[in-house]
Amino acid sequence: MSEISPGSSPEELLSIAVRVAREAAATARRMRDEAIGDVQTKSTDTDVVTAADKAVERQVVEALLAERPGDTVLGEEYGGADRAAPGAVRWILDPIDGTVNYLYGLPQYAVSLAAEVDGEVVAGVVRNAATGDEWTATRGGGAWRDGRRITCSTETTLGQALIGTGFGYDPRRRAHQGQVFARMITRVRDIRRLGAASLDLCLAAEGRLDAFFEKGLNPWDHAAGGLIAAEAGMVVSGLNGAPAGVEMVLLAPPALHPELHDLLVELDAAGGP
Ligand code: IPD
Repeated sequence: MSEISPGSSPEELLSIAVRVAREAAATARRMRDEAIGDVQTKSTDTDVVTAADKAVERQVVEALLAERPGDTVLGEEYGGADRAAPGAVRWILDPIDGTVNYLYGLPQYAVSLAAEVDGEVVAGVVRNAATGDEWTATRGGGAWRDGRRITCSTETTLGQALIGTGFGYDPRRRAHQGQVFARMITRVRDIRRLGAASLDLCLAAEGRLDAFFEKGLNPWDHAAGGLIAAEAGMVVSGLNGAPAGVEMVLLAPPALHPELHDLLVELDAAGGP
């Protein structure tokens, strides 16, 4: 990694991320309380974006760039930097992860904000905007929830494992994901689909899910939560030696990872559209 510029240690970046994410979560919550307006669709008829997603993203980008004008931001709604210059900070933001839950008032939606340097996430926060629960991590500094250190599940038997997953918005992808789901459900304790990937990763980080997988996640869905899960002791990967990415995000405790990995390969979980 390039030398860290002054003011850009993981701890300093996390402190900014936490402050900005709290303000963002307050805006999301307030806009929901005041009534959700202007609901539009994106990739498919079920992929919604609310005025709040856009307003929260603008607020976060403005706050980050006012404080750190040399940084870049990649956000879910407005896009942004594909990469940053060597040693520079790129922020990766999902202003409201779990937008469908947000729309329906289900208390499982979050602001997810990560700081990346040289392609490596070094700090991240996920804040459940409905409940105020907050998970944080810095690379090498452990994973934390509301000031308490967290560690992942110690489950060693796949048949006893509670697995989290999610589905994309494209109906053809969903059809494939449904087939994987149907074949996996008899091989594990049970499967949960809670609707906000960033929160799923944090729940796995503290052992409230034993493991998680999903195909099709974008960097803003898993950048912060992936670091939190890794710092909580999970193995975070793709399949067949690939890093976690759009083809697959798999996280599991070290003892479960090989077996779940092989089951995902057997079920062709990264296949389909
Ligand atoms: C979605 C959620 C969902 C996951 C989808 C994501 P959004 O993000 O994280 O749990 O299954 O793949 O797209 O659209 O609510 O920001």
